[in-house]
Amino acid sequence: MLAVWRLVAVTIFFTQTHHPGRSSCLPECQCSSEMLDCSHNDFTNMPYNKHLTSNLYTALNMSFNRIQILEDNAFIKRGYADLETLDLSYNDISAISPYAFKGLEAMKELILEHNKLLVLQQEVFEPLINLRDLYLQSNKLITVLPQTVSPLKKLINLDLRYNQLTRIAEGTFTNLSVLEKLRLIGNVMKTFAPEIFNPLKNLQYLELQLFETPHEQEVLPPSKPEVTSCLCKRKTALDWCHERRVNCLVTCCHPQEGQYDTDSNVCLSLLNAFSETETAKSRTDPRRDLLWAVAITVGVIILLFITIIIFALLFLKSKVHSGNENCSVVSNFETFAHHTSAAEDEVNNSDFGNEKEINMHCPQDRHLESEK
Ligand SMILES: *[C@@H]1O[C@H](CO)[C@@H](O)[C@H](O)[C@H]1NC(C)=O
Ligand SMILES: *[C@@H]1O[C@H](CO)[C@@H](O)[C@H](O)[C@H]1NC(C)=O
Repeated sequence: MLAVWRLVAVTIFFTQTHHPGRSSCLPECQCSSEMLDCSHNDFTNMPYNKHLTSNLYTALNMSFNRIQILEDNAFIKRGYADLETLDLSYNDISAISPYAFKGLEAMKELILEHNKLLVLQQEVFEPLINLRDLYLQSNKLITVLPQTVSPLKKLINLDLRYNQLTRIAEGTFTNLSVLEKLRLIGNVMKTFAPEIFNPLKNLQYLELQLFETPHEQEVLPPSKPEVTSCLCKRKTALDWCHERRVNCLVTCCHPQEGQYDTDSNVCLSLLNAFSETETAKSRTDPRRDLLWAVAITVGVIILLFITIIIFALLFLKSKVHSGNENCSVVSNFETFAHHTSAAEDEVNNSDFGNEKEINMHCPQDRHLESEK
């Protein structure tokens, strides 16, 4: 019995000391069979370790460190050629050299969120031909060049929220035919240009924010024409989404951004007021309005008619005995005719008067209609 226990103890000791994850892990990091997790440290570059057998790790987590620059061959020369997941979020990365990701053909998920990227070199993602998820949210990107994303032909999920993009260049998404999810909220798109999104044949989800001016830089809340203009663009975008069966979140405000809270609240309350009239308007189709008006008029006429008949019958019944019923019925019919035409006018006036007041003018709508 004792021999068996000793054997077990020796086996445990042996497997523990010779566990590849343990022996080749860095003191600052945590290692599992696939992940080298060096998050929450003070690294300014990827750790070099002679004992690291790179094949062990297909995931590297460098989030919450102090990396500022990714130089050429930053990963391959340190032995991370087989990475499939790379987390570089919450660093201070402001520049990525054009060949930083060289040799990372196996990469599937690249997380660069919460850094300080202003621009991306056009060659930078070229090696990442198998990339499926790219997270670039909460940087300071002012533009994304078509050449930068076009090598990513297998990309399924692209997150660009909370950057400083104002427009997407035509042709940017030309090669992203398998992209399913695109998030752009937190960027103030100046316009909605459907031709940019048209190459995304597999798009299932789109988040978009539209506004005339980047209002987070302004002290004043958005003006009424700005809001109206945004709502009109939003309508165009939502119509496009509906037609393409894309699930869309199109907004005119930052919906969840704490730092713009006051602006956001002002904007939201304005928008709520506007969008109520907007939805009211979209619900009422002019032909349906006319049908309602006719139905109400007919209803009123029938009601009046019944009332008159009841009164007439009562009147007749009471006068049967006295014998002079004929002239009373005629005079009642005259009153009845007068009443109905007045009621009809009233119904028409009130209904169409309201419609005029809530009607917003969308130049884009007219434009679209003339195109059809
Ligand atoms: C990396 O580490 C951070 C912090 O511990 C964690 O939140 C994040 O989910 C990790 N990333 C991956 C890809 O596992
Ligand atoms: C899309 O990919 C093709 C190669 O398949 C390439 O020739 C073309 O330049 C790419 N498009 C863009 C906009 O880069």
